[in-house]
Amino acid sequence: MHFLRPLVRQRRTLFSRQYANLRADPGKYVTVLKEQYPTDQMTNITPTIISKLPLRLHTQPSHPLSTLRALIESHFPTYAHLSSLSPLVTPYQNFDLLSFPQDHPGRSVTDSYYVNKDLMLRTHTSAHEVDVFSKGTEKWLLTADVYRRDEIDGSHYPVFHQTEGARIFSADASGMKEVEEDNARLLNHLKRSNIIIEDVPHISAANPCQPAHDPKHTELIAMNLKLSLNSLMLHLFGGRVGATEEGPLRVRWIEATFPWTTPSYEVEVFFRGKWLEILGCGVIKQATLDNSNVQNKLGWAFGLGLERIAMVLFSIPDIRLFWSLDSRFLSQFNQGEITTFQSYSKYPACVKDVSFWLPENTSLHENDFCDLVRDVAGDIVEDVKMIDDFIHPKTNKRSLCYRINYRSMDRSLVNDETNEIHSQVGSRLRDRFGVEIR
Ligand code: PHE
Repeated sequence: MHFLRPLVRQRRTLFSRQYANLRADPGKYVTVLKEQYPTDQMTNITPTIISKLPLRLHTQPSHPLSTLRALIESHFPTYAHLSSLSPLVTPYQNFDLLSFPQDHPGRSVTDSYYVNKDLMLRTHTSAHEVDVFSKGTEKWLLTADVYRRDEIDGSHYPVFHQTEGARIFSADASGMKEVEEDNARLLNHLKRSNIIIEDVPHISAANPCQPAHDPKHTELIAMNLKLSLNSLMLHLFGGRVGATEEGPLRVRWIEATFPWTTPSYEVEVFFRGKWLEILGCGVIKQATLDNSNVQNKLGWAFGLGLERIAMVLFSIPDIRLFWSLDSRFLSQFNQGEITTFQSYSKYPACVKDVSFWLPENTSLHENDFCDLVRDVAGDIVEDVKMIDDFIHPKTNKRSLCYRINYRSMDRSLVNDETNEIHSQVGSRLRDRFGVEIR
């Protein structure tokens, strides 16, 4: 997905976007959250992913993601706090209502999970912006699980969590007065805090104000957005080990683009020696508010990834741990407390390669490979890397080799067990994609 760089890594486009064989048969059904849905040519949701939908980690008491959600909510006490919306949305909600172009890569079956052509798993919490505004809610936070097809390593998982926040004001003198008063209050709070902010201009040629907006109003709203989020960053990171111990909290603003906001920005925070990409945000486009039947208002929205923040705040080294049911993980946390995770011993890894010839004229997207491995191996797969890709000079056939790193977080894997799983990966590859294992 390419709309928020902070939440995704650079996607390697090793394979063509052609999508072979991973098709459910028309006329069949898939059960998702206890409902049956017809499948079609777009269906690519997998049993592993379906099994995650009921878990809703952000609402599990004592879970680090739930503590982080509550910490963010406590910073916006006058906002509506929503956290129980279904992950099933239409592509219209996820993309069209937010002005995504028809050819946006996020729409493709290689990047997103589809139940069928009319129903998908939300790829971001922004998918609910129009719904929430339509209900007349003007200040809100919404936390939810979101889904993106991705590669496999210690900081990427196809399910993660986001908190969306938004606030709209009346586009008239009284609304602008409210913004000004809020800005003065926030500025005063930040002035007294140990924080250094690297800013960018609110509006620039590359990051323009909207034609329907008075630039003075946009400036005020952008300022309110920045002040609100700077003070949230202070609330989350300020005073914690590694941030302010030796100096002030450093926050930097970067210009960005999102289809449904302008001007738009990203925020990074300097924490434990690194710039951490935290969130995307911007002044909401008029089209989005029009789609929500909201008149004479303007405002801002942001979307922030929870795992990334929780990993540094709680020192959680591997993103799979959030899904662990092991009491050595879960018993370490109490609701409302940010504590440092004590790693229990790391079990040995078991590395296995699989190389295969692709059938002629077919391609295999790396995300298809990774989904297949996850489906067979679950959370025992720690990392997947392509280590070889060549075309035979005589036969013109293409060969790929992947290295799979198997490691359980809870126990030592028995070699027989890993061999069995690995051979299932091979046979599934053969059945689904017609490859010839070498
Ligand atoms: N939904 C965006 C993402 O996940 C983040 C965002 C939210 C950006 C709201 C702008 C406004 O990438």
